[in-house]
Amino acid sequence: MIITRTKKEFDRYYKLIKESKKTVGFVPTMGALHEGHLSLIKRSNKENNFTVVSIFVNPAQFNNATDLINYPRNEEKDFDLLLKALCDIVFVPDVNEMYPERDNRVFEFNGLDRLMEGKYREGHFNGVAQIVSKLFKIIKPNRAYFGRKDFQQAAIIKSMNNNYLKDLHIEIVTCDIIREKDGLAMSSRNQLLNESERKSAVRISQTLNKYVKQYSKYSVQELIKKITDEINQDYNLKVEYIDIVDDEDLQNVNKIVPGKTTFCVAVYDGEIRLIDNLAVK
Ligand code: PAF
Repeated sequence: MIITRTKKEFDRYYKLIKESKKTVGFVPTMGALHEGHLSLIKRSNKENNFTVVSIFVNPAQFNNATDLINYPRNEEKDFDLLLKALCDIVFVPDVNEMYPERDNRVFEFNGLDRLMEGKYREGHFNGVAQIVSKLFKIIKPNRAYFGRKDFQQAAIIKSMNNNYLKDLHIEIVTCDIIREKDGLAMSSRNQLLNESERKSAVRISQTLNKYVKQYSKYSVQELIKKITDEINQDYNLKVEYIDIVDDEDLQNVNKIVPGKTTFCVAVYDGEIRLIDNLAVK
């Protein structure tokens, strides 16, 4: 595995791969890797000749300074995991490399960024689009892989890719959520939970599961109330939002259609903000 820290260094190795006309899959990450990331790398390895992974904790997408400072970082452990996962090149730039000057670009996502996460994390998706577009232009992969845990992010990246980067011809691949044995959606932020919060966290996926299965018994409003109340019963947990949305335009629905509707939640577990979602099958 080749480790590169600058665009120049990356290009030097990457030129050879691009000249060979082989396909490249790209997995962008902010490090603190877990099985969820490894599943994206596995899929990329299956579908491409080479896999590039980036590790960059992107300040532009954090709307909370403490969250940025506390975001878990463990480069050595990440490299070990990437080596085992058969990553070919890892790109680990620093902030000056990615933002040599202020990025003032403002992206338009046709309102997708004003729903759910966007309501509570101002500027977050613009920051995601800034970094992902920069990375796409450097790496120019054939395919890029994102986890469905960040359901809204995947929709926004697809929109950005179609509207701003069409000439790069990158296919966006969304992969299933990987869960812990007890159902908790894997996330780098789970590392920040203490023992009691970790126990409480299970309630999020359990409650989603329970009411997604019973969706036909209640109205959408009743479902939202029941899920909120049941999660909030745990003293560590506080629901920020629960939205039941259309898979295409992410708008709230009045009627649940199996195969086209997803339940999305954001919950504070102590100080740690967790998100999860579950599709109605
Ligand atoms: O999902 C993430 O880890 C980040 O939002 C991403 C896509 C790597 C951009 O910084």
